[in-house]
Amino acid sequence: MSKQYDLVVIGGGPAGYEAAIRGAQLGMKVACIEKRVHKGKPSLGGTCLNVGCIPSKALLDSSHRYESTIHDLGAHGITTGDVAIDVTTMVARKDKVVDQLTSGIAALFVGNKIEWLQGTGKLLAGKKVQFTPLDGGEVQTLDATNVILASGSVPVNIPVAPVNEQEIVDSTGALDFTTVPATLGVIGAGVIGLELGSVWRRLGSEVVVFEALDTFLPAADKAVAKEAQKILTKQGLDIRLNAKVTATQIADGKVTVNYNQAGEDKVQVFDKLIVCVGRKAYAADLLAEDSGIKLTERGLIDVNDQCLTSVEGVYAIGDLVRGPMLAHKAMEEGVMAVERIHGQAAQVNYDTIISVIYTSPEIAWVGLSEEAAIAKGHEVKTGQFSFAVNGRALASGDTAGFVKFVADAKTDRLLGMHVIGASAGDIVHQGMIALEFVSSIEDLQLMTFAHPTLSEVVHEAALSVDGRAIHA
Ligand code: FAD
Ligand code: NAI
Repeated sequence: MSKQYDLVVIGGGPAGYEAAIRGAQLGMKVACIEKRVHKGKPSLGGTCLNVGCIPSKALLDSSHRYESTIHDLGAHGITTGDVAIDVTTMVARKDKVVDQLTSGIAALFVGNKIEWLQGTGKLLAGKKVQFTPLDGGEVQTLDATNVILASGSVPVNIPVAPVNEQEIVDSTGALDFTTVPATLGVIGAGVIGLELGSVWRRLGSEVVVFEALDTFLPAADKAVAKEAQKILTKQGLDIRLNAKVTATQIADGKVTVNYNQAGEDKVQVFDKLIVCVGRKAYAADLLAEDSGIKLTERGLIDVNDQCLTSVEGVYAIGDLVRGPMLAHKAMEEGVMAVERIHGQAAQVNYDTIISVIYTSPEIAWVGLSEEAAIAKGHEVKTGQFSFAVNGRALASGDTAGFVKFVADAKTDRLLGMHVIGASAGDIVHQGMIALEFVSSIEDLQLMTFAHPTLSEVVHEAALSVDGRAIHA
């Protein structure tokens, strides 16, 4: 007889594991099927915990400390001896952080009595799920009252630069280099290109970033993108816009990159090349032909605003569906889907999903950019204030960047907040909360911000929308 569950979740990444935990909290009998084996061990946590958000931030932190030790300590009167980086130790620390977090999810599953089925899940017709165990055990069919599909995404491959896990790698390979490459090419000046490009540049690589578009960070507010390009270039990232890679060849452990920049054919040789030109939904072997699930033209699972698919009782969440491919978006969709199943009226507000790029300084935004607000027909007013004159920023040497607000000129309603600067990823949450509460700029102007904090720049930026900044 097949096993019966209230909820079967396929995929144990941020989307799937949060859905499973919320389901268990609500009293459901839950199984979560996850097939990932990471460094020889079955592992929960998906892309984010194993090869995404967390390991990349661990390396960003290590490389930041290294660079800061070399360049920043002298000004504080601190002298050091020879500073060196041991990449093996750095990567081992990263692996330890990953292991701690993925084991933590496994412990949460035990605590919440969620069955972790290690293997591959496939949705059959009639909300049945086929489970093929990793250990070669017997294939089983599970009966589910509700199913959540959360199989995530994988990197996009391009034929001109096939990943060989040696000279040419994707983001996963770039987390595990064993030495610092003297020269590093990066295809794609997106989030991964800037974050992982920064990691290896800080450790000593000469990094060239090839970006096919002629615009840098087109999704960001123009003023922020311009400042980011200026700062990152000054740090040594060689960002080449309008540069299309046309071919690569491998010889003697090096990779030759042929590219065309603004109509001119050029060649450059690198020790390593990272391909990071976006990610695509991953639904291989997920759906039986008669599962009844509709896909979009782009191969995403077609869902409504509440993540319900074309089959009643089957939801799809996270990178597998429309919207930004971000862990926090994936997690909230997991919670929403389960609460919907439970009869609650949960919603995700897609207008207030924060974007953060964890470079130094960080780049973060929420809501509309000035350009997007104008395109949507708003008459806009903006205010911008720099960290350069903020007491706390000066005290800690974090003076780069600014906060910018975009508001509707007629109603004073806040439309967007954009931050480039230290802790931008945390500071921007103030804008997210303000947007959720439909704040006006005046609301922000009337609040008292603690002194001395970086957040005082938020206050000054709000005041500057109406020409009232005090320290301008
Ligand atoms: P995933 O995390 O991809 O999880 C899906 C899981 O399903 C996988 O583990 C897979 O093995 C499993 N699976 C697939 N098919 C099956 C099947 N048929 N049966 C069983 N299991 C299956 N986002 C952020 O918000 N912040 C960041 O800082 C950030 N940094 C990133 C850095 C890098 C280098 C990368 C690559 C991504 C980063 N992301 C970041 C994006 C983030 O990782 C994803 O948005 C997030 O992991 C999506 O969660 P998910 O659960 O939808 O999918
Ligand atoms: P991306 O979409 O952020 O950037 C890809 C870049 O590559 C774009 O600028 C695109 O124009 C460019 N590109 C595409 N094809 C190209 C080609 N053939 N030649 C040169 N350039 C080309 O994708 P990325 O960086 O791979 O990251 C994937 C996703 O992972 C992100 O979109 C994001 O959702 C997630 N992520 C989020 C992070 C965060 O939140 N901090 C960190 C890392 C990843």
